[in-house]
Amino acid sequence: MSKDILFSPFNIKNYGLKNRMGVAPMTRMSSIKDSVPRQDVLDFLVTRAENGAAIIYTEAIVTDYESAQGYPGQARMLTQRQIDAWKPVVKAIQDKGAVAIMQMFHCGRMAWQEVNPANRVIAPSPIPPKQNNPLTGKPYPVPDEMTKFDIDHVITGFVETAKGAVEAGFDGIEIHGAHGYLINNFLSSYSNQRTDEYGGTVENRFRFSDEVIQAVHKIVPEDRLLIFRISNWGVADMEVSLFKNKEEWQELIKLLSKAPIDAISVSTYGYKDNALGTDRNMAQLTREATDLPIMICGQIYDRASAEDALTDADIVLSAKSMLLNPNWVEDVRSGKDLPLYKSEEANVAYTDTPLP
Ligand SMILES: Cc1cc2nc3c(=O)[nH]c(=O)nc-3n(C[C@H](O)[C@H](O)[C@H](O)COP(=O)(O)O)c2cc1C
Repeated sequence: MSKDILFSPFNIKNYGLKNRMGVAPMTRMSSIKDSVPRQDVLDFLVTRAENGAAIIYTEAIVTDYESAQGYPGQARMLTQRQIDAWKPVVKAIQDKGAVAIMQMFHCGRMAWQEVNPANRVIAPSPIPPKQNNPLTGKPYPVPDEMTKFDIDHVITGFVETAKGAVEAGFDGIEIHGAHGYLINNFLSSYSNQRTDEYGGTVENRFRFSDEVIQAVHKIVPEDRLLIFRISNWGVADMEVSLFKNKEEWQELIKLLSKAPIDAISVSTYGYKDNALGTDRNMAQLTREATDLPIMICGQIYDRASAEDALTDADIVLSAKSMLLNPNWVEDVRSGKDLPLYKSEEANVAYTDTPLP
């Protein structure tokens, strides 16, 4: 691979990215009032654009007021006030030459009932994660099995949130299908035991994702991006492989590739790790099944790992390095010796001390 691939431009649809490095979505739980993040949390995203990242993701934005919120202090993009709070942030990111993407999510069975205004917990099947919620120390609640009404209602939340992002000026929208949240709950037979058209075969388990994508696609202008994030792991019961084998994963990636999306973002623990019982990593297994642009994330922390990760992907995303090192892009460019940050170090994300 040529030495400067990391800093070479890349096009996704009509968007020219100035390099291959982006800020991964990071929930900050800073929205105290009205689901609007704290100003320094918004400013953090602008600083990362100023310091060279080509793509800036928002935190996971909650899609409704009923059952979507999984953590305290999460943000929404449903009301004019919420949308207006994001407008200057998006503009500032774009002015720095970066692309702004809104990620949206519904927590599904990864629920914390009390933080939802309507106290409702829903999932494809009435099965909670096995482990306790680490934030409450209590078991996760048993979710209600979603009815067709629930399914349509939740899709409306994704559509309304996407409308908010379009109105706020975002260049793209990401549907969060990873990490054990609602969409991922439908995709994986670990959490989806339905016997109707939304459960069983991979095609059936993909049906809900497809309906969300199709509904959102209708309202996203042709010149903006629509991206889907996916993973084989969830933030609860972390050791579980959510997909059975390479065949299941690749069938899903092929179904996704037929949907009207512009890129697939693959989230891993470690980009290098062999996946799904093969001697290939997630990016390689994904590449075998799609021609769409691939973003990869997971323990990419210095120039060598970023270049290596680009062997099988088009864009690298970092969470912890972007969070903890404001100069990460320039430090990678200069080939500086950089640390691989530990999860506990990322806890600063949840303090109210502004990050540099
Ligand atoms: C503080 C923090 C918040 C996160 N919030 C989200 C989120 O809102 N949405 C999401 O898809 N991933 C989220 N993640 C996961 C990251 O996007 C990323 O996939 C993971 O941290 C691995 O990348 P890294 O090794 O570069 O940190 C979060 C990670 C951290 C550290």
